[in-house]
Amino acid sequence: MTIHPARARLVHELQDLYAAEQHLLIGLPMLVNAAVPPKLVAALREHLGQTLTHVLRLEECFSILGAEAKVRHCDVVEALLVEGSERAKQPRRRDAALTDVADRLERYQITAYRVCVELAHELGEEAVEMLLGLTLEEEHAAQRRLCPLADAKTQAKPLRGTGRAIG
Ligand SMILES: [Fe+2]
Repeated sequence: MTIHPARARLVHELQDLYAAEQHLLIGLPMLVNAAVPPKLVAALREHLGQTLTHVLRLEECFSILGAEAKVRHCDVVEALLVEGSERAKQPRRRDAALTDVADRLERYQITAYRVCVELAHELGEEAVEMLLGLTLEEEHAAQRRLCPLADAKTQAKPLRGTGRAIG
C-alpha cells in the first residue's frame, strides 16, 4: 500500500515532536531548578505540566493515524537543553540565558507544530488538526509568558479567519 507523502511526513514530524517533548519532560525540571525569579520559575513549572499534556496529545494523534508512537532522537532539543544548563552555571547571566534557551525551545516547537497542523489540515485529519492546534496555542502562550523580552514582531499572530495561531 502506498502511503500519501503528506501522511508519511506528518508521522515523521510527530515522532520528532514526541522525542522533543519527552526530552523536555526531563530537561525542564533542570531549568526550573536553575531559575531564580519567581515569575520565571512559575512559567517554567506551568510549561512542564503542559508538556505532559502535549505528550499525551501526541499519543492520541498516533492512535488516530494508526501510526507507531516511535521516539526519534531529537538533537535540537537535547543540544539546547545542554547549552541552557551550561550557560545557567554563570550566575551573572543566568536569567538571560534561561530566557534565551526557553525562547529557542518554544520557537522550535512552534515551527514544528505549525507544520503538523498544516499537514493534518491538508490530509483532512480534523481530530489531529484540532489536538495539535490546542498544543500550538499553548506553545505560543508559553513563549509569551517565558520570553517577555522577545521581539513582539516574531510572536504569535492568529491565522486570518481561523483563530489558529502561526509562529
Ligand atoms: Fe510542548
